[in-house]
Amino acid sequence: MLAGKRILLVIGGGIAAYKSLLLIRLLKGAGAAVTPVLTRAGAEFVTPLSVSALAGEKVHQALFDLTDEAEMGHIQLSRVADLVVVAPATADLMAKLATGRAEDLASTLLLATDTPVLMAPAMNVRMWQHPATQRNLAMLLADGVRLVGPDQGEMACGEFGPGRMAEPEAILAAIEAALSDGPLKGRHVLVTSGPTHEPIDPVRYIANRSSGAQGTAIAAALRDLGAEVTFVSGPASVPPPAGVRVVRVETAQQMLAAVQAALPADAAVMAAAVADWRVANQGAQKMKKDGSGRAPALEFAENPDILATVSKAAARPRLVVGFAAETEHVVDHATAKRARKGCDWIVANDVSPQTGIMGGSENAVVLISDAGAESWPRMGKDQVAKKLALRIAEALQNS
Ligand code: CTP
Repeated sequence: MLAGKRILLVIGGGIAAYKSLLLIRLLKGAGAAVTPVLTRAGAEFVTPLSVSALAGEKVHQALFDLTDEAEMGHIQLSRVADLVVVAPATADLMAKLATGRAEDLASTLLLATDTPVLMAPAMNVRMWQHPATQRNLAMLLADGVRLVGPDQGEMACGEFGPGRMAEPEAILAAIEAALSDGPLKGRHVLVTSGPTHEPIDPVRYIANRSSGAQGTAIAAALRDLGAEVTFVSGPASVPPPAGVRVVRVETAQQMLAAVQAALPADAAVMAAAVADWRVANQGAQKMKKDGSGRAPALEFAENPDILATVSKAAARPRLVVGFAAETEHVVDHATAKRARKGCDWIVANDVSPQTGIMGGSENAVVLISDAGAESWPRMGKDQVAKKLALRIAEALQNS
């Protein structure tokens, strides 16, 4: 599966470093070559000898190693691999890459490399949840770093929660996915997802019940087929998928700007539940009750239609897919919507409360295209996403 591939494996300083020894064995078993890099802290947990014995190669440790610099140098070392894997990725290594620091061999390689990076974080749960680590994580994801784990569970330090390094088998699977030559390899796909929040005043906003689950699943499915995904998301309740470029927005106007900045793309999937209206007389300060018992008179302005704008943009993606959230006459309304907005396909669904689709884990959709309306059976949002991603891959191959 990984025959002919070379992995540059950076082993950071954490108790999980012992699992990286097993990962090396799995990688070798799958046919990959492993160039190991051990940080100073990593060498406190596993010995250079065990790492190089398992990898069957010299372990690189120092930035200024005269022999290394004479042989190939740290820059070349960063280029030899098909994928750079950081396991365990400590809070420190994540912080270094997020802020672009290059002060030892591992951080310099991460900054100098032109190959994709996969991180397997491992740290104490409080360190993982610390806003600083979460900020760094958001930056790394936005830069396109892929992530595997961390898992939730009992930790070596005795605490419980997210922060445990993914198991070596899961890391191997993530490496195989990252290196797979999927049908969307080399394609850029833009996905919008989640609700938008339209402020009333600095503390209140108008929103909708979209969780972002369907858009997130679509972005992950497209990524799994090899696409480079830009994921523009409103304030969703599910976390964004790993390994995609994440752009976070709040309002419809910000979403439009982010979408336009992300073009050109081969395809666009607009799964966001964009608010149709924003408050035109938004308060600069919190709106106070005036004692009269009268409700404030909110005035509304229509938001830009992002799907319609992209459908007629000069840099229009070859395939533009919209969604239609309807509560009645689903096919008729969605067919009219497709024509009105100028997109190629509409994925229509019935979001009446009794269907449990909005905020739920399942979806029942009708795909409306040139060829007419095609009903898909009710299935998990993940399966809808996979089926749609395959259809997108087919359409891009045929066009
Ligand atoms: N959409 C958009 N920008 C908007 C409103 C909607 O890009 N301002 C996109 C959604 O992401 C979705 C599609 O348009 O792909 C349809 O969204 P939907 O809410 O079903 O339609 P509306 O435009 O709100 O139409 P209506 O009010 O008639 O249902």
